Amino acid sequence: MEEIKLTIDGREVTAQSGQTVFQAAAAAGIHIPALCFHEQLEPYGGCRVCSVEVVTGSRSKVVASCVYPASNGLVVNTNTEKIRHIRKVLIELLLTKAPASKPIRDLAEEYGADAARFSHDASFCVLCGLCVRYCTEVKKANALCFISRGTQREVTFVPEIASRECEKCQQCFDICPTNFIRANFEMAKALTFGTEE
Ligand code: SF4
Ligand code: FES
Repeated sequence: MEEIKLTIDGREVTAQSGQTVFQAAAAAGIHIPALCFHEQLEPYGGCRVCSVEVVTGSRSKVVASCVYPASNGLVVNTNTEKIRHIRKVLIELLLTKAPASKPIRDLAEEYGADAARFSHDASFCVLCGLCVRYCTEVKKANALCFISRGTQREVTFVPEIASRECEKCQQCFDICPTNFIRANFEMAKALTFGTEE
């Protein structure tokens, strides 16, 4: 693995090729907030809470650091006023979906996010995909999947598999940041596959 150097928040940082900006920053002790990141899973880029600014010449762009590759000579700013504002708005949107989520409330406190700024959304799944990806990548059970797209997108259990696998597993309950998956499981069990047990 090749050693590379980049600049994060004005500091020269050494990283390994193949690492993301998020990993390079973490290795250098630079904190970037994250919600849908999990160290056992492939990065996903769903929540954008880990947004940072990368600068090339006079241009800059905002990227999700958990999926953006670190590269030689890259200049990254993780905590500018613009980035803090972007995170604050994202967190305010997440709060409308999951007002009781402790990880999101902690982020809201850190960023001064206002829970009442956007109208309430009845769903409290934040679509981070941790449950689906954990079930697929770690458990290799494929008992969960996403259905539909855009605003209709949601997580659902695959009844044929979930009826066999989920009752004895339930590991995704502990990594869901909003507790939605537990409620979803109870509902799915009652409505679709509970009678097959
Ligand atoms: S149910 Fe929880 S873990 Fe699954 S996608 Fe929604 S918020 Fe993420
Ligand atoms: S932690 Fe990077 S997009 Fe969610």
